Amino acid sequence: MAETIRLDVARYRPEQEGEPTFQSYEVPLRKEWVVLDALNHIKDKVDGSLSYRWSCRMGVCGSCGMMVNGEPKLTCATFLTHYAPGPIKVEPLRYFPIVRDLVVEITDFMAKLKSVKPWIVREDEKLVSEGEYLQTPAQLDQFKQFSMCINCLCCYAACPVVGLDQHFIGPAAIALAQRYNLDSRDQGNEERLDMLSQHEGIWGCTFNGECSKACPKNVDPAGAIQQYKIKAVTEWFKSVLMPWGKGGTK
Ligand code: SF4
Ligand code: SF4
Ligand code: FES
Repeated sequence: MAETIRLDVARYRPEQEGEPTFQSYEVPLRKEWVVLDALNHIKDKVDGSLSYRWSCRMGVCGSCGMMVNGEPKLTCATFLTHYAPGPIKVEPLRYFPIVRDLVVEITDFMAKLKSVKPWIVREDEKLVSEGEYLQTPAQLDQFKQFSMCINCLCCYAACPVVGLDQHFIGPAAIALAQRYNLDSRDQGNEERLDMLSQHEGIWGCTFNGECSKACPKNVDPAGAIQQYKIKAVTEWFKSVLMPWGKGGTK
């Protein structure tokens, strides 16, 4: 195995430069090193001006998502040896505005996330003195998969519809909406369905499954969207055939 590998890293200062350029760095090719280790090596030993986000280095915080050889990856979980002999192209997540180098702007995503009410909605709040809302292990299993999302945004960078329609609410936000819809303690299903039934919600999705393939946490946003489409159509039929029954299901 070669002793080093070349990283071609996107560099960009939007306030000073018209477009991103690539800068090449030769880094040690160690079998235990992930792409994030290589970026940290560059930052510490070669070029302190390189900008990127990371925090946990263990696939939990979701902040180190970048394009690695054209695919969205968590760089703390992507080994250099997988790309040997290289080179490895590292770019910011696709479809997001660039703040600097590998750092992207996520304000728009945060607004989309908030719009699906990713919290437990209750019509009838219990008093604290009345105790917790209990849940069985089987009820937890209903939504557990969707609660594994770490908001890394790899699914947005993989989704062709996100690239075409900036208003599309996107895979992770819909998966998180479904996480709460399937929670036995939640009563916000209808509010979320009203919001997601708009074009920017579920109907924009062409169901090619790229989001689920890209997810490093095995969440299945494409599956969540399909579940939602079925639910929306069912509710629409109910509202046409039984208008008096709308709002009777949770
Ligand atoms: S399944 Fe839908 S949300 Fe997922 S990548 Fe395809 S178009 Fe995007
Ligand atoms: S669904 Fe997966 S890829 Fe998308 S933000 Fe969540 S963890 Fe990341
Ligand atoms: S650094 Fe936290 S997920 Fe990679």
